[in-house]
Amino acid sequence: MSVAGERIPEGVDVRLPSAARVYDWLLGGSHNFDADRAVGEKVMAVLPSGRQVAASNRAFLRRAVRYMITQGITQFLDLGSGIPTVGNVHEVAQNADPGCRVVYVDYDEVAVAHSRLILEGNPNATVVAADLCRPRAVLTSPDVQTMLDFSRPIGLLMVAVFHFVPDDLRPREIVADYRAALPPGSLVALSHLTADHAPRAMAAVTEAMKNSRDPMYFRPYAEVVALFDGLQLVGPGVVSAPLWHPEPGIRDIEPDDVYAGVARKT
Ligand SMILES: C[S@@+](CC[C@H](N)C(=O)[O-])C[C@H]1O[C@@H](n2cnc3c(N)ncnc32)[C@H](O)[C@@H]1O
Repeated sequence: MSVAGERIPEGVDVRLPSAARVYDWLLGGSHNFDADRAVGEKVMAVLPSGRQVAASNRAFLRRAVRYMITQGITQFLDLGSGIPTVGNVHEVAQNADPGCRVVYVDYDEVAVAHSRLILEGNPNATVVAADLCRPRAVLTSPDVQTMLDFSRPIGLLMVAVFHFVPDDLRPREIVADYRAALPPGSLVALSHLTADHAPRAMAAVTEAMKNSRDPMYFRPYAEVVALFDGLQLVGPGVVSAPLWHPEPGIRDIEPDDVYAGVARKT
């Protein structure tokens, strides 16, 4: 059995849907299995804008990286990086400056294996298999320590990941632990799904993901803003993802179910 012609990495339970693979399916990727596609279909049935929301979140990630580059950031820590797809962080960053360094972190075996594959021969990018809810383990991992220079500003990306972290794991404290490790001048990008605008549809999405590897916990605006505590939000603050620094010339932007923002550690 293979995913898109590649061997299935060891430890993958193809019957247990995962966020990385459902998201990959929503984005039109091929690194997913029947169980992931079945959940993806359920999500689309209750949230017909599902593919658009995934694409819009991904577009926010790329805009945030480009923004960070304009602010002088040349090294990135991407937590919950997912299965590589077109316009990955290292591609966007290294297109602008081939010397940019990128560390991807994910706990999904398919995401990690595929990242390893596409990063072969790239001396300035690597992937770490780790749980982002254990900041100390992530921050002290040899790849993070070797690849990133903690005396210079870092771009920390936490895009579409904290809605997989339940309240009892204390998401604000997790963010605070990463924030504490960042040098001043670092930038943090975060996006998060919400049920504020479509509570019934999003409750059905929660239900569809309930028995997956990654149950979901959508949060209201104030709780998403609180994840940026201790950081200085850059304009326009936390807004619906498509409204955050839209590409020039794009008009009539509709808000969606993802809140997004970028903030600076001062
Ligand atoms: C929706 S995808 C987002 C991918 C990418 N950040 C983006 O926005 O395009 C969420 C990713 O977070 C990963 N993830 C969720 N919880 C995680 C955890 N506790 N530790 C590491 N990765 C996690 C999933 O495996 C998945 O790849």
